[in-house]
Amino acid sequence: PQKSRVTVVGSGNWGSVAAKLIASNTLNFNSFHDEVRMWVFEETLPSGEKLSEVINRTNENVKYLPGIKLGKNVVADPDLEHAVRDANMLVFVTPHQFMEGICKRLVGKIRKDAQAISLIKGMEVKREGPCMISTLISEILGINCCVLCGANIANEIAVEKFSEATVGYRENKEIAEKWVRLFNTPYFMVSAVQDVEGVELCGTLKNVVALAAGFVDGLDMGNNTKAAIMRIGLREMKAFSKLLFPSVKDNTFFESCGVADLITTCLGGRNRKCADAFARNGGKRSFDELEAEMLQGQKLQGVSTAKEVYEVLSHRGLLQLFPLFSTVHEICSGRLAPSAIVEYTEHSARLP
Ligand code: NAD
Ligand code: 13P
Repeated sequence: PQKSRVTVVGSGNWGSVAAKLIASNTLNFNSFHDEVRMWVFEETLPSGEKLSEVINRTNENVKYLPGIKLGKNVVADPDLEHAVRDANMLVFVTPHQFMEGICKRLVGKIRKDAQAISLIKGMEVKREGPCMISTLISEILGINCCVLCGANIANEIAVEKFSEATVGYRENKEIAEKWVRLFNTPYFMVSAVQDVEGVELCGTLKNVVALAAGFVDGLDMGNNTKAAIMRIGLREMKAFSKLLFPSVKDNTFFESCGVADLITTCLGGRNRKCADAFARNGGKRSFDELEAEMLQGQKLQGVSTAKEVYEVLSHRGLLQLFPLFSTVHEICSGRLAPSAIVEYTEHSARLP
């Protein structure tokens, strides 16, 4: 059988770690070509050099994952069409807001037998309703798309600390197993569940809860309040997921993509960190400003996801059933003070 060729579309913090993980496995398994292409959204560094050239020279993504060697078989490619041309396994891992544009550029440019997986946490809201990123990829490109989410703070996996992840697939278990083989390593333990929407919604929605956790950290509310936020947030994650897709399985929330990702993101994620600073500044500095200052080019997903969730709920007249999700958006958009998270959460705790 023909060897599979892998391209990673995206080269941010998680994208670079994903390329490193994959590149260690393509060397180990004969079923994959050694080389892993990684599409780089090109930028010029302060030194005047192009990021993709520096990655290829140093084998390091000096901007988004400094200090970590990616593996010599990772090749950075700033030309999107060229990067995907020969690949039959496409790994999508960019901030979610850029995916629609990227997919449109790829129409007619990928192999007919290509398969995709999305590592992206986020969704789009269109006039017709919400659209998960894996669905966007499937529909625009006409290809199958699995998802991979989990308790995966990229910088920890970069230094090979143990973690788990969950692949979500639709019906073809063999395809899911191929993705598991591509990602699984002794320090990155991947399992598969037949619940694409459940896995993807867990990864997407926990970013909204992480903002709430950051607000209570910024207000110095302590661990019990934060645990309450996580519990109520998990409950809203489950209710919202089932509202969009009644097929979502309860067990998915107990996988790495569910409660484990919720916990790690509320403890150590970027959404938490920026929301903490937002609350400490009394909401006077915008998230855009804090993101630019604190993340140096990395992107927050929670603020736009909170808005997208709010749009869905308001369209369906269900805002009052999701006080935590609604309040997070109202705080992010400046309509409520950060302290509202506690008042509304108290109300929420009393909901049946
Ligand atoms: P990141 O936050 O580091 O984002 C920056 C990336 O976006 C860079 O590669 C940058 O070049 C690119 N970019 C900027 N403007 C762009 C544009 N106009 N078009 C295309 N690309 C552009 O990225 P990341 O951490 O790799 O996150 C990607 C996805 O993975 C997100 O959905 C995130 O939620 C998810 N994720 C991240 C982590 C993590 O710990 N970083 C863990 C799990 C999942
Ligand atoms: P942040 O984007 O908040 O850093 O979350 C990272 C993540 O998804 C960990 O699994």
